[in-house]
Amino acid sequence: MTPMVDVRAAHKMFGDLHVLKGVDLTVAAGEVCVVLGPSGSGKSTLLRCLNELEVLTGGSVRIDGELLGYRKDSSGALHRLHPKAIARQRARIGMVFQRFHLFPHMTALENVVEAQVQVLRRPKAEARSKATELLERVGLSDRMGHYPAQLSGGQQQRVAIARALAMDPEIMLFDEPTSALDPELVGEVLAVMKDLAAGGMTMVVVTHEIGFAREVADHVVFMDEGVVVEEGPASQVIDAPAHERTREFLAHVL
Ligand SMILES: Nc1ncnc2c1ncn2[C@@H]1O[C@H](COP(=O)(O)OP(=O)(O)OP(=O)(O)O)[C@@H](O)[C@H]1O
Ligand SMILES: [Mg+2]
Repeated sequence: MTPMVDVRAAHKMFGDLHVLKGVDLTVAAGEVCVVLGPSGSGKSTLLRCLNELEVLTGGSVRIDGELLGYRKDSSGALHRLHPKAIARQRARIGMVFQRFHLFPHMTALENVVEAQVQVLRRPKAEARSKATELLERVGLSDRMGHYPAQLSGGQQQRVAIARALAMDPEIMLFDEPTSALDPELVGEVLAVMKDLAAGGMTMVVVTHEIGFAREVADHVVFMDEGVVVEEGPASQVIDAPAHERTREFLAHVL
């Protein structure tokens, strides 16, 4: 079986700063992979390389077998893809950030409609019906006409998730989706993510929510200083970590 996400020997430099130092990561279709690690370990950088917000300095990312960002010619040489082709690849990968980045002058519904029309060229009526369905799915059927400023952080994040889902992504990436939220709003966002996982979505989730990782993750990865220190099921990485660095980190967040 071709993995949905296949990262090989990923390196990322920002100038002299070596942030990813040979990361390998495989996520099967339908799997939920939770990435843990201290601040600055490279978690966001890894996610950003998965949806081509950043370009790797070395190594490769394949999504469902397709090389991201490059095509190989008959001699095996790599050529950077045209920006349009990269945009097509990026559309297959949904991303949800810590900050929701909704358009403030658009209602919840309009926020979920926008990219469907602009990027996918979907007819407006179809985009609206899809947006309505997704906002219902994330529990916001009574908030569709509200502007972001009229919504709680948890509601805004659920709109952001609906907006990403509206593009029919094959994979969803989440970068600390609940860490900007008041504690009482975290649960409603995690519930939507659990529902998505139960529906078979392939997900890579950077989070400090250890309970979520235990309950939902098929696969937990612990990163530190740009490398994967250990990985495996939650029962292993969280409950019986093999490495001192993992134990130290868990002692902080638990
Ligand atoms: N665009 C950039 N230019 C220069 N350095 C960067 C850039 N993005 C990230 N870095 C650096 O790369 C390192 C890893 O950052 P990254 O955001 O991936 O860490 P992280 O594990 O997501 O941390 P956190 O838990 O704080 O979000 C940090 O030292 C950061 O300052
Ligand atoms: Mg980060």
